[in-house]
Amino acid sequence: MPQFDILDKVALVTGGASGLGFLYAINLLEEGARGVTLADIDKVAGAKALEEIEKKYGANKAIFVYCNVERKSDFEDAFVKTIEKFQNIDILINNAGILNDHVYEKEIAINVNGVAYGVILGLDKYIPQYKSGPEGLIVNISSIAGVSPLAMIPIYVGTKFAVHGMTLSWGDSYHYNRTKVRVVGVCPGVTDTPLIQLMSGRNLGPVYQECLKDLRNYPVQAPGQMANRMIQIIKNAPSGTMWIVEGNSLPFKFELPNYQKMKRVYLEEDQ
Ligand SMILES: NC(=O)c1ccc[n+]([C@@H]2O[C@H](COP(=O)([O-])OP(=O)(O)OC[C@H]3O[C@@H](n4cnc5c(N)ncnc54)[C@H](O)[C@@H]3O)[C@@H](O)[C@H]2O)c1
Repeated sequence: MPQFDILDKVALVTGGASGLGFLYAINLLEEGARGVTLADIDKVAGAKALEEIEKKYGANKAIFVYCNVERKSDFEDAFVKTIEKFQNIDILINNAGILNDHVYEKEIAINVNGVAYGVILGLDKYIPQYKSGPEGLIVNISSIAGVSPLAMIPIYVGTKFAVHGMTLSWGDSYHYNRTKVRVVGVCPGVTDTPLIQLMSGRNLGPVYQECLKDLRNYPVQAPGQMANRMIQIIKNAPSGTMWIVEGNSLPFKFELPNYQKMKRVYLEEDQ
């Protein structure tokens, strides 16, 4: 499989004004991307991010679009403004997400609906029509919480399992063959950003807060390292694959077991 070539490509990154999303955008520009759209709800961070990009890469390399991924119309506007500015759209990183089970309806709306809107618009509408090369790419951000349960944040885990399921289904060769868009997933491990720094209290209540200490069992990685691994995944990951990046490691593939091949452990009948 040939590498995906980032040179001259145009990317849209949700949650791109700060945190990991901003670092993904910067790394794409480092690799020669022609333009990036930072789609985010934080206008202040967006202005600061644009300023930083302009200083480093010159004018006309990035735009900020106010986009709340809970709203499909906002998301569509981000695609339209990207195409107006850069004429193309090649890469979507569905990165916007929150960790806050205390406001779980909102968490589900952002983490699940937001990703669904992105793929529906990206795969079925904009990327096949406006990609500038032979292939487009959608990267969905799941989490290690999307491959393994965590008692402290069950709803966040549920949203990231949902992202995992959507990625494997949309990453199927059926969709690749009809769209020429790779759909891949990334599961970052614990990464030192505000999402983790501010997670205390963002749960369903005191009994959930109690098991927050379990998080100490997970290695913490630097955001910059995570962003570097993202470039490797963008270039090399085949459609329908999920990659874990934890503790500054190289990406390693997560393989969902095939239930049809599992040894069956039957539930005993009641006596
Ligand atoms: N940091 C970690 O340890 C970690 C681990 C696994 C997965 N992730 C995932 O990585 C992604 C980015 O996380 P982060 O650590 O950079 O978080 P962060 O909180 O540092 O940044 C999130 C960004 O998303 C934006 N955002 C929030 N709600 C939005 C909305 N409704 N619409 C558009 N933008 C919105 C914020 O303004 C912010 O710029 C999330 O999906 C998160 O679940 C993070």
